[in-house]
Amino acid sequence: MPPIPKPDPLGMPIPIGYLFALKVFGFFLHMVFMNLWLAGLPVAVILARTRPHVSERLIAAMPFAMAFGINAGIVPLLFLQTLYPQFFYPATILQAWFWFLVIPLLLIAYTAVYLAAFGRWRILASLAAAILLTWIGFQFSAAMTLTARPDHWPTLFRSAAPAGGVHGWTLYLEREALLRLGLMAGMAFGTVGAFLALLTEIRQGDSRLQEEARPLVPILFTIGLGIFGIAGSLYAPTVADRLPRILQLLTGASVPIAWAAAWLYRARPRPATAIILTILQGGVLVSNAIARQVVQATELGPWVDLGKIPVRGEWGSFAMFVGALLIGIGVLGWMLRTAWIRVRA
Ligand code: HEM
Repeated sequence: MPPIPKPDPLGMPIPIGYLFALKVFGFFLHMVFMNLWLAGLPVAVILARTRPHVSERLIAAMPFAMAFGINAGIVPLLFLQTLYPQFFYPATILQAWFWFLVIPLLLIAYTAVYLAAFGRWRILASLAAAILLTWIGFQFSAAMTLTARPDHWPTLFRSAAPAGGVHGWTLYLEREALLRLGLMAGMAFGTVGAFLALLTEIRQGDSRLQEEARPLVPILFTIGLGIFGIAGSLYAPTVADRLPRILQLLTGASVPIAWAAAWLYRARPRPATAIILTILQGGVLVSNAIARQVVQATELGPWVDLGKIPVRGEWGSFAMFVGALLIGIGVLGWMLRTAWIRVRA
């Protein structure tokens, strides 16, 4: 039996270019909201006494961020299973119990976030949610790293399958998985900074939030730059041969550029500079989402040639998917517009 199962004999539903584009787009949306809870919750807990309005605003935003972030995560999950099922499933089966635990832990974290947002045990619940969500974040990094490391499976299998069946308690605590989470955490501090800048400039009348948030934004970007810089300097050499030079420059330069824009916002705090900062932070997430996908595809290239898999052309379900996505984006736009009008009023 070949070590890697053969690709799905039914072939790809549509050409892989569409699948990769939607996977990266879905992951970008997941990153936007996931970043808010990955860095936003620890920031809200640490600043609860010194910057109570910032802390309160962040905690109040978490139920929305989780709802959107989890749903957005389903999109890349679907396309990951369409493109690379024979890699994703074995990688998660080897870590089965930790992977299964994601759901109950997520439910507890979700409940804790709601308790905090409704003012019950605000700091304790936020701290519990922050710890659980960071652990889940690591599980995703471990799963995604092992998905692209089929060469590690036999060793893990042999150490985890005493009677021929894996016990599922393998924890893939690899350096690469930790560095990937470090990169994500670095970007997340920037995303929280951009969110606070945008929120502060939208809520023009909230002078206490302005006092607390405006000086904090460049500090969050500096912390993010530091974490991203350290993780990136250790991670980048390991993928240098799998990532085109231009993408290395783009992902590497995007974070310091957003950092500089954060200081510009600090010097001239107004809607225009907050929007520029948010767009540049969006660029950080998009460039890293694309780079991550290129690395994943390059790492799995020696094991499967997706270009050789037949395409069965299921355009009907694709059109339904795109239709539902556009309606969803429309509803999201209407919700944001309503919130904007209410907040401005
Ligand atoms: C049920 C909820 C969730 C779903 C469906 C989901 C889905 C996904 C998917 C599919 C990916 C990989 C995307 C790709 O390869 O393109 C991913 C990556 C990631 N997710 Fe989520 N996610 C969920 C919850 C979370 C939570 C609670 C966290 C906590 C922080 C999180 C943090 C991450 C991180 C850090 C990555 C990047 C992993 C890496 O490549 O190193 N996710 N998520």
